[in-house]
Amino acid sequence: MKKLSLAVILIVLPSLAQAWPWSMDMANNVSIKPQESVDPDHPGMQPFPSRSVPVKGTTVFVKDADAARAMNNPIAADEKSVAMGGRLFTVYCTPCHGTSGTGDGPVGEKLIMKPFNLTNSNDLHSWNPKEYPDGYIFGMMTLGGAVMPSYANDLSPTERWHVVNYVRKVLQKAPPMAAATQAK
Ligand code: HEC
Repeated sequence: MKKLSLAVILIVLPSLAQAWPWSMDMANNVSIKPQESVDPDHPGMQPFPSRSVPVKGTTVFVKDADAARAMNNPIAADEKSVAMGGRLFTVYCTPCHGTSGTGDGPVGEKLIMKPFNLTNSNDLHSWNPKEYPDGYIFGMMTLGGAVMPSYANDLSPTERWHVVNYVRKVLQKAPPMAAATQAK
């Protein structure tokens, strides 16, 4: 019986510790909280500074992969867009897909599911724009895949289309290693 009550105390103790006043000391210290007023005549929350704008947060503009697939690429694949896409691809995609786009990035090598080959040498499909339109690549970045994370937080929709243009123009037209020089 003694043993049992000891066990019960040991189980309950940690949850009690959460409720003890000092468990909130770090949170409720003397520092000024965000938006807290320091004007004793006007206590409470301070109004937002003038000209501050609300942040809308992340917007996933597409419902699902099918909706993404049906989207038209609104950004012309000119030199500027492809160059911007190349810079973004280097930052966000090469860790897994590699500079070559074939899926030989250092992080990709460690994944159980290998990153898919994004070049024309892709043995999954030929990247026929009719079969795999720009919207498909856009959708992968927006929604992510089974293993691939979503990049909707990191890349704005316009940036995602720049990356699409880079993948199309450079990775899928030029021989794999050309991508590395273009991305720099
Ligand atoms: C953390 C590793 C990782 C990163 C970073 C990553 N991917 Fe992927 N990607 C994958 C994996 C794994 C797959 C395989 C499909 C899946 O996950 O469902 C994939 C698949 C894809 C596909 C589908 C290819 C096909 O043949 O159907 C596209 C397109 C793609 N990625 C584009 C990108 C782009 C563009 C970026 C950069 C914004 C990126 N990926 C970043 C891991 C990654």
